[in-house]
Amino acid sequence: MTYRNTMRAVGWRRSEHLFWFWVLPALLVLSGCSGEPDAVMGDARRAGEHLATQGRDGIPPCSSCHGPKGEGQATFPRLAGQHPLYLVKQLEDFARVPPRAGVVVEPIARDYSATPRIYSDLTVFSPGIREDAVMGPIARQLSKADRRNLALYYASLPFDATPVPADFQTLERGQDLALRGKPEYGVPGCVTCHGPDGRGFEADFPPLAGQPAAYLVGQIDRWQSGQRDNDPQRLMQTVANQLTDADKANVAAYFANLSANWPGYQGDWPWPE
Ligand code: HEC
Ligand code: HEC
Repeated sequence: MTYRNTMRAVGWRRSEHLFWFWVLPALLVLSGCSGEPDAVMGDARRAGEHLATQGRDGIPPCSSCHGPKGEGQATFPRLAGQHPLYLVKQLEDFARVPPRAGVVVEPIARDYSATPRIYSDLTVFSPGIREDAVMGPIARQLSKADRRNLALYYASLPFDATPVPADFQTLERGQDLALRGKPEYGVPGCVTCHGPDGRGFEADFPPLAGQPAAYLVGQIDRWQSGQRDNDPQRLMQTVANQLTDADKANVAAYFANLSANWPGYQGDWPWPE
C-alpha cells in the first residue's frame, strides 16, 4: 500500500496530512523549540551569578571565598568549569546533617607519615555526608533552584590553571602515584578515575588538576577521618585510606603543577525536567 493509499484508508485529506506531517514539525523547529533550553540555561546562569557575587540574607557571596571567577585559592576549591551535576551534589551533601547514631571508633593513633592508615573499617561512617563548618550552614539556606543556578553559573566559567612549581623529587613521586597508583595496596592511579591529567571525568569524577594543593590534601584527610563520606560506592574512601601523609603531599603537588584549561560547561541543560 502506498503512502497516499494509507492516508486515504484512514480517511485523511491531503491538506490535513500536509499540515500534521510537514508544516507543524517545520514550524516547531523554526519557532526555536530547540532554543528554549538555552534560554532556561541563560536565566539560571544569570540568577546563579547574582547570588554568587551579591549573596543574599545570611548567605555571603560565594565569590568572597571562591574568588571572583570561581578560581579558588588555598583551602577554597576552584568551582569554575566543574561539572554542574557534581557541584549540585556537593551542595546537597554539605546541607545534609549527619545522624549521630552508631558507634564511632577513632582509627588507632599511630604515625601515618610512612604507612597507610589501616583499621579505619572499624569506624561507622555516615554515608552521603560532607561535613564542613563553613559550607554546611551556607548550603542549608539554598533552595533546589539556587543550587542549580549556582552550579550552572560556576560550571559555565572558563578556567586556566597556572602551574605551581615544586621540586623534582616531589613531582616524580606524585606522578608515579597519579599514573601508576600503589598496586601493592590495590590502589589504581588517580587518573584511572579522575581522567587523563586529572582533568575530571563527567559528573562523578571531579578534576584534581587546577585545584589548590592544600585543598586536595585537606579532602583526603577528611575521607580518612570520615568527615567526608559522600563518594559513590566508597570509591574514593578506599583509595584515601591507603595514602600516607607523604603520598598526599606529593600527589597534590603533582596535580597543582599541571597546566590545563577548561572552556566552561558546553553541554545541554543537565536536568531531566
Ligand atoms: C566563607 C567562605 C566560603 C563561602 C562564602 C562559600 N564557600 Fe564554598 N567552600 C568553602 C570551603 C572552605 C570549602 C571546602 C570545604 C571542605 O573542605 O569540604 C568549600 C567548598 C565548596 C564546594 C565543593 C567543591 C568541590 O570541588 O568539591 C562547593 C560546590 C562550594 N563550596 C560552593 C559554594 C557556593 C555555591 C557558595 C555560595 C552560595 C559558597 N561555596 C560560599 C568556603 C566558602
Ligand atoms: C576508583 C576511582 C577513584 C580513584 C582511583 C581515585 N579517586 Fe579521587 N574521587 C573519586 C570519586 C568518585 C570522587 C568524588 C566523590 C564525591 O562524589 O564527592 C573523588 C574525589 C576526590 C577528591 C575531591 C575533589 C574535590 O573537588 O573535592 C580528591 C582530592 C581526590 N579524589 C583525590 C584522589 C587522588 C589523589 C587519587 C589517587 C591517589 C584518587 N583521588 C584516586 C574516585 C576515585
